[in-house]
Amino acid sequence: MDAGPVVRRSVGAQELAERVTATLVSALSSIQDDGRIPSLVLTGGSIARLIHTSVATSPDRDLADWSRVDFWFGDERFVAADSRDRNAGQTQADLFDHVPVDPARVHPMPAFGEEYGADVDAAARGYLDELRGELPLDHDGPVFDILMLGIGPDGHCASLFPGHPALDASDFVVGVRSSPKPPPTRISMSMALLNRAREVWWVASGAEKAQAVADALTGDDVHQVPASGPKGLDRTIWYLDDAAASRLPVDP
Ligand code: 6PG
Repeated sequence: MDAGPVVRRSVGAQELAERVTATLVSALSSIQDDGRIPSLVLTGGSIARLIHTSVATSPDRDLADWSRVDFWFGDERFVAADSRDRNAGQTQADLFDHVPVDPARVHPMPAFGEEYGADVDAAARGYLDELRGELPLDHDGPVFDILMLGIGPDGHCASLFPGHPALDASDFVVGVRSSPKPPPTRISMSMALLNRAREVWWVASGAEKAQAVADALTGDDVHQVPASGPKGLDRTIWYLDDAAASRLPVDP
């Protein structure tokens, strides 16, 4: 069981991104050395984009075999596949176009207007079916190796927002309407599924996240601070720059 969160501070966003990159490449190659194919859940947002670019340009990136990694998404904006708002599209441009992933192992969430049309709930069920086809969701224990999450100034994570009914979803993947962060309609892994990873890696940069980070590390009411919910079954790491860590108690 998780021994409690580990906080890894960096001076700024670029150093944070490079630190996550080094740990990610090492973790993926270590899992592969054990003969397994790592399952990695990516997040959207600006610090995630910086991390993806850091991985793509890292001189050590090929220490991991990118063709033997299963990529999933913790959430997605329910917009057209070619929309600039798509987390999957941004990740394709920032990372997947630059490392030799196996397209069959890249699992984007459904886009608006494709096989599920405009039905976000059907799209969420469709992604859950895809997850079930690949991973042991219906057994106890970890499903993912590493699950990365950003955090909003309001304490949201993935597309789970304070006070939103999606926080109480019983399914593992949920359609989200009226998101306070545009675009308004999204698909998200639920709190239950965000808690099925060996390791949860939080990534946050900027003073505007500082209070949310402090609340997430000290709080326990996911309805007020969704980011207080997800924890790794083995380890939870908070990658913060100094600004995002500025409301944390100073180490004695
Ligand atoms: C999304 C993200 C969202 C994001 C946070 C942080 O689809 O919008 O998954 O949860 O990670 O809002 O975003 P920033 O890093 O851009 O602040």
